[in-house]
Amino acid sequence: MEQLLAQLEVYRSEIEAYNIPGAEGAEKFRITYLGTKGLVKTLMGEMKNVPSDKKKEFGQVLNEFKQLAEAKYNTLKEAGEAGGVQQGPTIDLSLPGDIFPVGTRHPISSMRSRIVSIFQRLGFSVAEGPEIEDDWHNFTALNLPEHHPARDMQDTFYISTDPAWLLRTHTSNIQIREMEKGKLPLRIICPGRVYRNETISARSHCFFHQVEGLYIDENVSFADLKQTLYFFVQEMYGNDVKVRFRPSYFPFTEPSAEMDISCQLCKGAGCNVCKYTGWLEILGCGMVHPKVLEHCNIDPEKYTGFAFGMGVERPAMLKYGITDIRLFSENDVRFLKQFRGV
Ligand code: DAH
Repeated sequence: MEQLLAQLEVYRSEIEAYNIPGAEGAEKFRITYLGTKGLVKTLMGEMKNVPSDKKKEFGQVLNEFKQLAEAKYNTLKEAGEAGGVQQGPTIDLSLPGDIFPVGTRHPISSMRSRIVSIFQRLGFSVAEGPEIEDDWHNFTALNLPEHHPARDMQDTFYISTDPAWLLRTHTSNIQIREMEKGKLPLRIICPGRVYRNETISARSHCFFHQVEGLYIDENVSFADLKQTLYFFVQEMYGNDVKVRFRPSYFPFTEPSAEMDISCQLCKGAGCNVCKYTGWLEILGCGMVHPKVLEHCNIDPEKYTGFAFGMGVERPAMLKYGITDIRLFSENDVRFLKQFRGV
Protein backbone atom coordinates (compact mmCIF):
# COMPACT_ATOMS: atom_id res chain seq x y z
CA MET A 1 0.00 0.00 0.00
CA GLU A 2 2.77 2.46 0.95
CA GLN A 3 4.62 1.45 -2.15
CA LEU A 4 1.57 2.02 -4.29
CA LEU A 5 1.05 5.48 -2.87
CA ALA A 6 4.68 6.38 -3.49
CA GLN A 7 4.38 5.11 -7.05
CA LEU A 8 1.25 7.27 -7.55
CA GLU A 9 3.23 10.32 -6.44
CA VAL A 10 5.76 9.62 -9.21
CA TYR A 11 3.00 9.26 -11.78
CA ARG A 12 1.44 12.48 -10.57
CA SER A 13 4.60 14.46 -11.21
CA GLU A 14 5.00 12.74 -14.60
CA ILE A 15 1.53 13.93 -15.57
CA GLU A 16 2.27 17.45 -14.41
CA ALA A 17 5.48 17.54 -16.39
CA TYR A 18 3.97 16.01 -19.54
CA ASN A 19 4.43 18.49 -22.40
CA ILE A 20 4.26 16.75 -25.81
CA PRO A 21 2.39 19.40 -27.82
CA GLY A 22 -0.37 19.21 -30.41
CA ALA A 23 -3.27 16.86 -31.04
CA GLU A 24 -0.80 13.99 -31.32
CA GLY A 25 0.62 14.69 -27.86
CA ALA A 26 -2.88 14.80 -26.36
CA GLU A 27 -3.81 11.49 -27.94
CA LYS A 28 -0.62 9.85 -26.74
CA PHE A 29 -1.39 11.10 -23.23
CA ARG A 30 -4.93 9.68 -23.43
CA ILE A 31 -3.68 6.23 -24.46
CA THR A 32 -0.97 6.13 -21.77
CA TYR A 33 -3.09 7.29 -18.84
CA LEU A 34 -6.78 7.05 -19.69
CA GLY A 35 -7.05 4.34 -22.35
CA THR A 36 -8.46 0.83 -21.77
CA LYS A 37 -4.92 -0.41 -21.16
CA GLY A 38 -3.85 2.88 -19.58
CA LEU A 39 -2.38 3.54 -16.17
CA VAL A 40 -5.64 4.57 -14.45
CA LYS A 41 -7.30 1.30 -15.49
CA THR A 42 -4.25 -0.70 -14.33
CA LEU A 43 -4.25 1.02 -10.95
CA MET A 44 -7.97 0.34 -10.60
CA GLY A 45 -7.07 -3.32 -11.09
CA GLU A 46 -4.71 -3.07 -8.10
CA MET A 47 -7.72 -2.35 -5.89
CA LYS A 48 -8.30 -6.07 -5.29
CA ASN A 49 -4.83 -6.40 -3.70
CA VAL A 50 -5.45 -3.57 -1.24
CA PRO A 51 -6.44 -4.68 2.25
CA SER A 52 -10.12 -4.00 2.93
CA ASP A 53 -9.49 -1.41 5.67
CA LYS A 54 -7.37 0.66 3.25
CA LYS A 55 -9.71 0.31 0.28
CA LYS A 56 -11.59 3.54 1.02
CA GLU A 57 -8.45 5.65 1.40
CA PHE A 58 -6.82 4.17 -1.72
CA GLY A 59 -10.04 4.63 -3.66
CA GLN A 60 -10.08 8.33 -2.87
CA VAL A 61 -6.44 8.83 -3.83
CA LEU A 62 -7.02 6.94 -7.05
CA ASN A 63 -10.07 9.04 -7.85
CA GLU A 64 -8.10 12.26 -7.41
CA PHE A 65 -5.38 10.81 -9.61
CA LYS A 66 -7.92 10.02 -12.30
CA GLN A 67 -9.36 13.54 -12.16
CA LEU A 68 -5.89 15.03 -12.46
CA ALA A 69 -5.22 12.91 -15.57
CA GLU A 70 -8.57 13.88 -17.12
CA ALA A 71 -8.03 17.58 -16.46
CA LYS A 72 -4.55 17.43 -17.97
CA TYR A 73 -5.92 15.58 -20.97
CA ASN A 74 -8.59 18.26 -21.58
CA THR A 75 -6.00 21.01 -21.40
CA LEU A 76 -3.70 19.20 -23.82
CA LYS A 77 -6.58 18.52 -26.21
CA GLU A 78 -7.74 22.14 -26.32
CA ALA A 79 -4.23 23.43 -26.84
CA GLY A 80 -3.68 20.84 -29.58
CA GLU A 81 -6.81 21.89 -31.45
CA ALA A 82 -6.09 25.60 -31.22
CA GLY A 83 -2.50 25.29 -32.27
CA GLY A 84 -3.02 22.53 -34.81
CA VAL A 85 -2.02 24.62 -37.80
CA GLN A 86 1.30 25.51 -36.32
CA GLN A 87 2.23 21.90 -35.89
CA GLY A 88 2.97 21.29 -39.60
CA PRO A 89 6.46 21.55 -41.07
CA THR A 90 7.93 24.88 -40.12
CA ILE A 91 8.38 27.48 -42.85
CA ASP A 92 11.44 29.66 -42.87
CA LEU A 93 10.17 32.97 -44.19
CA SER A 94 13.64 34.41 -44.39
CA LEU A 95 14.71 32.03 -47.19
CA PRO A 96 14.61 33.44 -50.76
CA GLY A 97 11.47 32.31 -52.69
CA ASP A 98 11.40 29.87 -55.60
CA ILE A 99 11.46 31.58 -58.98
CA PHE A 100 8.76 30.07 -61.21
CA PRO A 101 9.25 30.42 -64.96
CA VAL A 102 6.52 32.75 -66.22
CA GLY A 103 5.13 32.42 -69.75
CA THR A 104 4.67 35.33 -72.14
CA ARG A 105 1.72 36.49 -74.18
CA HIS A 106 1.94 35.69 -77.85
CA PRO A 107 2.51 38.90 -79.85
CA ILE A 108 -0.55 38.08 -81.99
CA SER A 109 -2.70 37.75 -78.86
CA SER A 110 -1.53 41.04 -77.45
CA MET A 111 -2.01 42.86 -80.78
CA ARG A 112 -5.49 41.35 -81.13
CA SER A 113 -6.50 42.51 -77.64
CA ARG A 114 -5.10 45.99 -78.28
CA ILE A 115 -7.25 46.31 -81.41
CA VAL A 116 -10.35 44.81 -79.80
CA SER A 117 -10.16 46.90 -76.62
CA ILE A 118 -10.03 50.18 -78.57
CA PHE A 119 -13.33 49.31 -80.25
CA GLN A 120 -14.80 48.05 -76.99
CA ARG A 121 -14.30 51.54 -75.61
CA LEU A 122 -16.51 52.81 -78.44
CA GLY A 123 -19.29 50.42 -77.45
CA PHE A 124 -18.49 47.50 -79.77
CA SER A 125 -18.91 44.07 -78.24
CA VAL A 126 -16.92 40.97 -79.12
CA ALA A 127 -18.46 38.29 -81.34
CA GLU A 128 -16.83 35.14 -82.66
CA GLY A 129 -17.74 32.54 -85.24
CA PRO A 130 -16.69 29.12 -86.54
CA GLU A 131 -13.45 28.52 -88.43
CA ILE A 132 -15.06 25.64 -90.35
CA GLU A 133 -17.75 27.33 -92.37
CA ASP A 134 -20.31 26.70 -95.09
CA ASP A 135 -20.41 28.39 -98.47
CA TRP A 136 -23.37 30.60 -97.52
CA HIS A 137 -21.73 32.37 -94.57
CA ASN A 138 -18.27 32.65 -96.09
CA PHE A 139 -19.28 33.60 -99.66
CA THR A 140 -22.88 33.64 -100.90
CA ALA A 141 -24.48 35.77 -98.20
CA LEU A 142 -21.59 38.21 -98.56
CA ASN A 143 -22.54 38.78 -102.19
CA LEU A 144 -19.54 36.94 -103.51
CA PRO A 145 -20.75 35.85 -106.93
CA GLU A 146 -20.52 32.20 -107.86
CA HIS A 147 -17.58 32.60 -110.17
CA HIS A 148 -15.67 35.03 -108.02
CA PRO A 149 -11.95 34.17 -108.02
CA ALA A 150 -11.88 34.15 -104.20
CA ARG A 151 -13.92 30.95 -104.28
CA ASP A 152 -11.27 29.25 -106.31
CA MET A 153 -9.79 26.04 -104.95
CA GLN A 154 -6.47 27.77 -105.30
CA ASP A 155 -7.37 30.28 -102.60
CA THR A 156 -9.73 28.34 -100.39
CA PHE A 157 -9.22 25.18 -98.37
CA TYR A 158 -12.31 23.07 -99.05
CA ILE A 159 -13.14 20.27 -96.65
CA SER A 160 -15.90 19.04 -98.96
CA THR A 161 -17.44 20.42 -102.14
CA ASP A 162 -21.02 19.13 -102.18
CA PRO A 163 -22.23 20.49 -99.86
CA ALA A 164 -19.32 22.90 -99.57
CA TRP A 165 -17.56 23.06 -96.23
CA LEU A 166 -14.43 25.11 -96.02
CA LEU A 167 -11.96 26.82 -93.70
CA ARG A 168 -13.15 30.42 -93.55
CA THR A 169 -11.10 32.74 -95.71
CA HIS A 170 -12.00 35.84 -93.68
CA THR A 171 -13.78 36.84 -90.46
CA SER A 172 -16.62 38.42 -92.50
CA ASN A 173 -18.60 35.20 -91.95
CA ILE A 174 -19.21 36.44 -88.39
CA GLN A 175 -21.03 39.52 -89.79
CA ILE A 176 -23.56 37.25 -91.45
CA ARG A 177 -24.01 34.99 -88.45
CA GLU A 178 -24.60 37.95 -86.15
CA MET A 179 -26.98 39.76 -88.54
CA GLU A 180 -28.96 36.55 -88.99
CA LYS A 181 -29.67 36.54 -85.27
CA GLY A 182 -31.99 39.49 -86.01
CA LYS A 183 -31.09 41.76 -83.09
CA LEU A 184 -30.57 45.38 -84.08
CA PRO A 185 -28.80 47.72 -83.67
CA LEU A 186 -25.62 45.70 -83.96
CA ARG A 187 -22.14 46.90 -83.05
CA ILE A 188 -19.57 44.13 -82.99
CA ILE A 189 -15.85 43.51 -83.21
CA CYS A 190 -14.89 40.02 -84.32
CA PRO A 191 -11.37 38.63 -83.95
CA GLY A 192 -10.43 35.26 -85.37
CA ARG A 193 -8.14 33.00 -87.38
CA VAL A 194 -8.58 32.65 -91.13
CA TYR A 195 -7.12 30.30 -93.75
CA ARG A 196 -5.97 30.71 -97.33
CA ASN A 197 -4.30 28.33 -99.67
CA GLU A 198 -1.13 30.34 -100.14
CA THR A 199 2.49 29.40 -100.45
CA ILE A 200 4.16 29.93 -97.11
CA SER A 201 6.93 32.52 -97.22
CA ALA A 202 8.37 35.30 -95.07
CA ARG A 203 5.47 37.53 -96.12
CA SER A 204 2.47 35.22 -96.37
CA HIS A 205 1.10 32.19 -94.56
CA CYS A 206 -1.73 29.71 -95.05
CA PHE A 207 -3.34 30.89 -91.83
CA PHE A 208 -3.38 34.28 -90.17
CA HIS A 209 -5.63 36.50 -88.06
CA GLN A 210 -8.18 39.19 -88.78
CA VAL A 211 -10.43 41.52 -86.85
CA GLU A 212 -13.76 42.37 -88.43
CA GLY A 213 -16.01 45.25 -87.38
CA LEU A 214 -19.68 45.83 -88.09
CA TYR A 215 -22.14 48.54 -87.13
CA ILE A 216 -25.78 48.37 -88.26
CA ASP A 217 -28.41 50.89 -87.19
CA GLU A 218 -30.71 53.52 -88.68
CA ASN A 219 -28.82 56.41 -90.31
CA VAL A 220 -25.30 55.00 -90.10
CA SER A 221 -23.19 56.91 -92.63
CA PHE A 222 -19.77 56.80 -94.25
CA ALA A 223 -18.84 59.73 -92.00
CA ASP A 224 -19.43 57.48 -88.97
CA LEU A 225 -17.15 54.88 -90.53
CA LYS A 226 -14.38 57.41 -91.12
CA GLN A 227 -14.61 58.87 -87.64
CA THR A 228 -14.63 55.44 -85.97
CA LEU A 229 -11.55 54.31 -87.90
CA TYR A 230 -9.80 57.63 -87.33
CA PHE A 231 -10.34 57.25 -83.59
CA PHE A 232 -8.94 53.73 -83.84
CA VAL A 233 -5.69 54.68 -85.58
CA GLN A 234 -5.07 57.59 -83.25
CA GLU A 235 -5.46 55.33 -80.24
CA MET A 236 -3.29 52.69 -81.88
CA TYR A 237 -0.54 54.74 -83.51
CA GLY A 238 -0.69 58.15 -81.81
CA ASN A 239 -2.10 61.55 -82.63
CA ASP A 240 0.31 62.46 -85.40
CA VAL A 241 -0.73 59.58 -87.66
CA LYS A 242 -2.24 60.57 -91.01
CA VAL A 243 -4.94 58.55 -92.74
CA ARG A 244 -6.26 58.37 -96.28
CA PHE A 245 -9.13 56.46 -97.85
CA ARG A 246 -8.76 55.05 -101.35
CA PRO A 247 -11.77 53.83 -103.34
CA SER A 248 -11.69 50.05 -103.65
CA TYR A 249 -13.92 47.09 -104.37
CA PHE A 250 -15.36 44.41 -102.08
CA PRO A 251 -18.49 42.50 -103.09
CA PHE A 252 -20.00 42.93 -99.62
CA THR A 253 -19.68 46.73 -99.36
CA GLU A 254 -20.78 49.64 -101.55
CA PRO A 255 -19.06 52.01 -101.65
CA SER A 256 -15.83 50.29 -100.60
CA ALA A 257 -12.51 51.74 -99.55
CA GLU A 258 -9.10 50.82 -98.29
CA MET A 259 -7.54 52.83 -95.53
CA ASP A 260 -3.87 53.73 -95.42
CA ILE A 261 -1.92 55.25 -92.55
CA SER A 262 1.26 57.27 -92.86
CA CYS A 263 4.21 54.89 -92.56
CA GLN A 264 5.17 54.62 -88.92
CA LEU A 265 8.76 53.69 -89.66
CA CYS A 266 9.80 56.58 -91.92
CA LYS A 267 7.02 58.96 -90.81
CA GLY A 268 5.91 59.30 -94.40
CA ALA A 269 9.33 60.04 -95.91
CA GLY A 270 9.53 56.71 -97.77
CA CYS A 271 11.32 53.48 -96.83
CA ASN A 272 11.44 49.89 -98.03
CA VAL A 273 8.57 48.82 -95.73
CA CYS A 274 6.15 51.31 -97.34
CA LYS A 275 7.83 50.77 -100.71
CA TYR A 276 8.82 54.44 -100.77
CA THR A 277 5.19 55.62 -100.87
CA GLY A 278 5.06 56.90 -97.29
CA TRP A 279 1.77 54.99 -96.80
CA LEU A 280 0.78 51.60 -95.42
CA GLU A 281 -2.51 49.92 -96.23
CA ILE A 282 -4.07 48.62 -93.00
CA LEU A 283 -7.69 47.72 -93.69
CA GLY A 284 -10.61 47.33 -96.07
CA CYS A 285 -13.99 48.87 -95.31
CA GLY A 286 -17.22 50.21 -96.71
CA MET A 287 -20.98 50.55 -96.34
CA VAL A 288 -22.65 47.14 -96.04
CA HIS A 289 -24.12 46.20 -99.45
CA PRO A 290 -27.96 46.26 -99.48
CA LYS A 291 -27.94 42.72 -100.86
CA VAL A 292 -25.98 41.51 -97.82
CA LEU A 293 -28.55 43.12 -95.51
CA GLU A 294 -31.36 41.47 -97.47
CA HIS A 295 -29.67 38.09 -97.21
CA CYS A 296 -29.91 38.48 -93.43
CA ASN A 297 -33.53 39.69 -93.49
CA ILE A 298 -32.61 43.27 -92.64
CA ASP A 299 -34.55 45.99 -94.46
CA PRO A 300 -31.99 48.10 -96.39
CA GLU A 301 -34.54 50.92 -96.69
CA LYS A 302 -34.59 51.27 -92.93
CA TYR A 303 -31.11 50.21 -91.85
CA THR A 304 -27.64 51.03 -93.06
CA GLY A 305 -24.27 50.00 -91.70
CA PHE A 306 -20.55 49.97 -92.14
CA ALA A 307 -18.05 47.14 -91.98
CA PHE A 308 -14.31 46.85 -91.95
CA GLY A 309 -11.71 44.12 -91.81
CA MET A 310 -8.04 44.22 -90.87
CA GLY A 311 -5.20 41.80 -90.44
CA VAL A 312 -3.42 41.29 -87.11
CA GLU A 313 -0.06 39.95 -88.30
CA ARG A 314 0.99 43.03 -90.24
CA PRO A 315 0.51 45.60 -87.48
CA ALA A 316 2.25 43.21 -85.07
CA MET A 317 5.20 42.86 -87.47
CA LEU A 318 5.43 46.63 -87.78
CA LYS A 319 5.16 47.23 -84.05
CA TYR A 320 7.76 44.67 -83.03
CA GLY A 321 10.01 44.90 -86.09
CA ILE A 322 9.37 41.27 -87.11
CA THR A 323 10.37 40.53 -90.69
CA ASP A 324 9.22 36.92 -91.10
CA ILE A 325 5.54 36.00 -90.60
CA ARG A 326 6.44 32.34 -90.06
CA LEU A 327 7.95 33.15 -86.67
CA PHE A 328 4.44 33.66 -85.27
CA SER A 329 3.48 30.03 -85.71
CA GLU A 330 6.74 28.19 -85.08
CA ASN A 331 6.51 28.32 -81.28
CA ASP A 332 10.21 28.92 -80.91
CA VAL A 333 10.57 29.86 -77.25
CA ARG A 334 13.58 32.04 -78.00
CA PHE A 335 11.31 34.18 -80.20
CA LEU A 336 8.29 34.12 -77.90
CA LYS A 337 10.04 34.98 -74.68
CA GLN A 338 11.13 38.32 -76.12
CA PHE A 339 7.55 39.57 -75.67
CA ARG A 340 7.61 39.51 -71.88
CA GLY A 341 5.38 42.26 -70.57
CA VAL A 342 3.95 43.44 -73.91
N1 DAH B 1 -12.94 40.33 -95.82
C1 DAH B 1 -11.92 41.21 -96.37
C2 DAH B 1 -10.64 40.44 -96.57
O1 DAH B 1 -10.52 39.36 -96.06
C3 DAH B 1 -11.65 42.36 -95.46
C4 DAH B 1 -12.82 43.30 -95.43
C5 DAH B 1 -12.89 44.33 -96.33
C6 DAH B 1 -13.80 43.15 -94.51
C7 DAH B 1 -13.94 45.22 -96.32
C8 DAH B 1 -14.87 44.02 -94.48
C9 DAH B 1 -14.93 45.06 -95.40
O2 DAH B 1 -15.84 43.93 -93.60
O3 DAH B 1 -15.96 45.93 -95.36
O4 DAH B 1 -9.75 40.92 -97.21
